[in-house]
Order: sequence, then structure tokens, then C-alpha cells
Amino acid sequence: MDKLLITGGTALQGEVRASGAKNAALPILAATLLAGGPVTLTNVPRLRDISTTLQLLGRMGAHLTQDADGVVRAESRTLTSFAAPYALVKTMRASILVLGPLMARYGHADVSLPGGCAIGARPVNLHLDGLKAMGAEITVEGGYIRARSGRLRGARLMMDMVTVTGTENLMMAAVLAQGETLIENAAREPEVIDLAGFLTAMGARIEGAGTDHIHIQGVDQLDGAHYAVMPDRIETGTFLVGAAMTGGRVRVSHTRPDCLDAVLQKLRECGAQVTTGEDWIEVDMQGRRPRAVDIHTAPHPAFPTDMQAQFCALNSIAEGVGVVTETIFENRFMHVLELQRMGADIRIDGHLAICRGVQRLTAAPVMATDLRASAGLVLAGLVAHGETLVDRIYHLDRGYDNIEAKLAGLGAVIRRTSAAAA
Ligand code: EPZ
Repeated sequence: MDKLLITGGTALQGEVRASGAKNAALPILAATLLAGGPVTLTNVPRLRDISTTLQLLGRMGAHLTQDADGVVRAESRTLTSFAAPYALVKTMRASILVLGPLMARYGHADVSLPGGCAIGARPVNLHLDGLKAMGAEITVEGGYIRARSGRLRGARLMMDMVTVTGTENLMMAAVLAQGETLIENAAREPEVIDLAGFLTAMGARIEGAGTDHIHIQGVDQLDGAHYAVMPDRIETGTFLVGAAMTGGRVRVSHTRPDCLDAVLQKLRECGAQVTTGEDWIEVDMQGRRPRAVDIHTAPHPAFPTDMQAQFCALNSIAEGVGVVTETIFENRFMHVLELQRMGADIRIDGHLAICRGVQRLTAAPVMATDLRASAGLVLAGLVAHGETLVDRIYHLDRGYDNIEAKLAGLGAVIRRTSAAAA
């Protein structure tokens, strides 16, 4: 099992390029099932979750390849299977994103229930309710979602909760449905907008992506397309927090400043000098210690839950007390238990983590529990005294493209060991 070894104390300096966004690439890859012609996708990150998705689609009979530059080419073919088996879905819950496209184009899907994960139960009831409203017959038995329909019918879908992949699944279901669909209380995340951009490039008729009202006019078929996946705003934010924690100066290039307003505001609040250009963001901490900041996670455009662990790490060494409120997931403070082992003074009280900054953390062997928690632990290792060992970094590899090389390029003392499984 791979581990990361990080020796703390170096300020990050330099420029790093953001990879394509995992959470945009995953729904866009699922949407290639809708294409009536060849698709070329550029800026697709090289990640475990991406290879899992390519494997899943390949098992259905789709033909997709990813080359060394990350370019994905998809040939639209008739599928030989409409199933997403548990063996694959259990490694990546986002596999649920094939449900909408399969129902839109084939009216047939047997998708394993994703099940929960470390951060929460992660139900998909809103995905299923929406498909039922569009005419799908859905039963859940033996851990599988069994969905059947004729051509889906457009419907008015009022989402009880803001759900990112729920919005994405239902948008993909609606693009080939008979008539109009209105998704109300839709997710406004930039990745939803990116998916809508790809669907539109294939000929879909969508208005309002990025607002809480998305209107889709169903069409009879979609074409192929050539599309570039947006940059990863969470990877971007992770490197910027690293600069703020280590007192360094980092520019992230090939990224989108307009997708991170809430995060940039918190970086300014903690004392960082933040400048932006058309496709870059720079944080200059000028050697200072960050001030603690209060964080309240909520759907976009508010502060993203995927940046919460990183700011817990920042608050653990900041000046003062920062209160972190996690409102999206019920169990997303697993990283706090590991930060405490490094000497962080953080108290969990329900959905709150009260962080009282200490002068310095102390290196310790810690364990990654989920994707973003592991990023928070890596950041903590960058400032801790001594050599921190982060175990189970397969979580990290799901969402960060070669993070140790990128951090080493910024001066971090970090290396990966592939010690035999303990
Ligand atoms: C997406 O997950 C992201 N994943 C998550 O990123 C991200 O943390 C999350 O959105 C919130 O921004 C992808 O895009 C692949 P939700 P998703 O449905 O869509 C509840 C990462 O680290 N809910 O918006 O699964 C749910 O339990 C990952 O990259 C229902 O109750 O999240 C949660 O409390 C982690 N019923 C809330 O809504 C449903 O049918 C928001 O979840 C759906 C969701």
C-alpha cells in the first residue's frame, strides 16, 4: 500500500499547473454514452477515478481510450450491457452517473446502489425520484437499482435538497426526453455548468446551468463533440492553502479564478495576498503565519465542502480560533482525529470543529480516510516538525494527479514509498 513521507518546514514557492477537474470529467465521461458520434475530450486528469470510469463504460461495450496526454477518445457504439456492477461501483460511488444517460438513451439500467462512504450515507433517493417523475419504473432489490422505461418524458423536478450528481444525472436523463424538463433547486456548481457545456456541444438544448433553475428541451438524438474539461478548482484551492500554511508564494496556472470566490475570500481573510489573472491565481503569504478563519460549508457559490479539510489543516497552525461548520455531510471530520495526533488543538462538537491554532504541529504516522481528508493531512505534513507518514494514500490518488511531483516542484520535501502491504 503506497504511503507518502513528508518532511515539514519548507515554504512552497513557484508555479504549478492545475489538472482537469475530476468532478467535471466524471459526469462528462458518463455523458459520452449519449453521443451519436465520436467524442474527443481534452484536459482529462489522469486519476484512479477516471480509469475506473473508463473501465466501467468499457464493460458496457463503449469504446474509450485515454492517451498519455490525458486525451480521451470515445467511439459511440451500441452497448452490450446496461449494468454497473457492485465490484466497480463500490470503488467509486460516482458510477451512479451512468444511470441518467443509460435511461435517456436505452431506457434500461441495472446500477449497484453506491452505498455510503467514510463521509456519509450518501443516499441517491433524489436521483431515483427524478427518474420516476420522468416515467421510469424503478425497483431496488439485492443492492441494485433496476430501472426501465420507454422514452423518458420531460417533467418539472423540484429537488428537495441541492445535489450535485443528482442534478447532473437528471440533466443527462432530460436531454433526450420527450418535451421539456425544469430542474428547480438545481446545484449551481461549476462542474454542472461544464457538463451542460459538453451536452450542448453534442446538440442538447439547455438553459440556466449554473442557476438553481435549469430548463432542458429534449431532442431526438445527440452528435459527437470535441470538448475541453474545466480545470480542477479543488486541486487549485489545495495548492493555494499550502502556500498560505507554509508562508510561501505559489501561482496556480491553467485554472479558473471565477470558480473559487468563496475560497479566495477566506485566503484573504487569513492574511494572504491573493492576485488573479485570466487563467491563474497567486497566493503570497510573505512568510507570515495565517490568521484563523471561520468556515461554513454550503452549496456553490458558498464555501465548498471539498475544501473544508484543507482549511482545518490551515486553522490548526493559524493564529487564533477558527470555527469550521460542515453542513453538507454528516461525517466529514475524520481528518480532525488525525490532525489531533499531530498536536492540533481541535474540538469536534457535532457539525462544528473548533480549531485553536498551535505554533507548530509534530510529525506523526497518520492515515488517510477519504479523498479530501488525505489532502488536509498532506498539507499538515508540509508544516509539521519532522517526517510525517501518510498511509492509505490510494484515497489521494483518486482525486489528485501526481500530487507529490507537483508539491516537490514547489519545494516540498515529499516522496512516495510503495512499501509492501503492512
Ligand atoms: C458531489 O457529490 C461531489 N462528487 C463531492 O465531491 C462533493 O463533496 C459533493 O458533490 C458536494 O459538493 C462528485 O461530483 C463526483 P450531493 P454528491 O449529492 O453529488 C444528500 C470529492 O471529494 N443527498 O451534492 O454525491 C447527500 O447525502 C467528492 O470529490 C441526498 O440526501 O453530493 C449530502 O448530504 C466528495 N439524497 C447532500 O445531499 C440524494 O439523492 C449533498 O450531496 C443526493 C444527495
